[in-house]
Amino acid sequence: MNKVLEFPRGFLWGSAISAHQTEGDNLHSDWWEWEHSKTRLEALKEKGLSPADFQSGAACDFYNRYEGDFDLLAQLHQNAFRLSIEWARIEPREGHFVDEEIRHYERVLAALKRRRITTFVTLHHFTLPQWLAEKGGFLKRASTEYFMRYIERVAPRLSPYTDFWLTINEPEIYASHAFLFGIYPPQHKSSLEMYWVTRNLIRAHNHAAVYLRTATSKPVSMAYHLTDLQPINIFAHFSRSLSHYLANEYVLQRTIGTCDYIGVNYYGHSHIGVFGRRLQSLSHHETSDMGWGIHPEGLERVLVDLKKFHKPIYITENGVADAADAKRVRFIKDHLYYAGRAIQRGVDVRGYFYWSLLDNFEWHHGFAPKFGLVKVDYATQNRSIRPSAREYAKIAADNLLIYE
Ligand code: BGC
Repeated sequence: MNKVLEFPRGFLWGSAISAHQTEGDNLHSDWWEWEHSKTRLEALKEKGLSPADFQSGAACDFYNRYEGDFDLLAQLHQNAFRLSIEWARIEPREGHFVDEEIRHYERVLAALKRRRITTFVTLHHFTLPQWLAEKGGFLKRASTEYFMRYIERVAPRLSPYTDFWLTINEPEIYASHAFLFGIYPPQHKSSLEMYWVTRNLIRAHNHAAVYLRTATSKPVSMAYHLTDLQPINIFAHFSRSLSHYLANEYVLQRTIGTCDYIGVNYYGHSHIGVFGRRLQSLSHHETSDMGWGIHPEGLERVLVDLKKFHKPIYITENGVADAADAKRVRFIKDHLYYAGRAIQRGVDVRGYFYWSLLDNFEWHHGFAPKFGLVKVDYATQNRSIRPSAREYAKIAADNLLIYE
């Protein structure tokens, strides 16, 4: 039997992107530098991969094409959008702020406001200006002062067009991928460094949040990457609790006090073994093109677990790599269904942002994964709306999910 789930009035229906992944030509960033570095090029060559597929280049040329992309948003009945501001453009050299780039973002956000779209603005989404990366970036305690100086420049200017701030995107992923697993630049592999970076991100967020709340009176959060972790058996309960604390709660507990709401990025679930090992889920599940398990039920558990903080929640990212667009409708509907169940259980969920509006540059995976509601032909920069986007648009327009 079909179930009808009505979402609360004023629910935000949107999608999300980040600057480096879509804008193109982010020349002064650490990622750009790394994508063109000898180490990176040699590593790709060794695997027989073509560098062009792993260099952001013009990406989706969103920097120039935002008006057209926002028309698509409006056409798809989305009433909210999440994007990030690129620090490396605004401060390409230490202490040298480029007013024209701040004006660019004023124009971008004004273009959303003209379409009556609620804006979520992220101030740090994985990339740094290269000069700051050379100084050690978030490894150094001084990063907070640099972050604050940048924010104090941009926030007063962008605040008239910003409805919600997100200070830092997924500190957990950034710290682990760049400083422990050696995946993102600077490709370090040190648990001590990961710890320091995490501490500095927490510090930077708390300073930024206090400033943003007082200076702009707009609600602030981080975009937390939260994973549903389940014990493999009764003996694994303790290691599951420890993993949950380290993966999800450590940053949350130290930053929630300065957040007005909670931004949740949800991508999935793992089982935890007796000795804390993360395993793919044991239950039968579908996978994305990237081999990631699809676990909509986990979203309900993650959301219910956040009820204790008594803050509004926005799902700031949730998406699937699916080039054929064969699983995306099911993916969205299933996740919305479990978000809806959490709402029925009293969790104050107020919005959902699909990742992503556009196919884009998927970090170290390059251009192959296709997360977009809208397909991008990178050679021509043509956009085409995928059928799943139209299904999502219907849900957004009706504020209602009919769930089979
Ligand atoms: C990040 C995005 C990324 C997405 C899919 C999130 O961790 O915030 O930048 O593209 O996951 O991997």
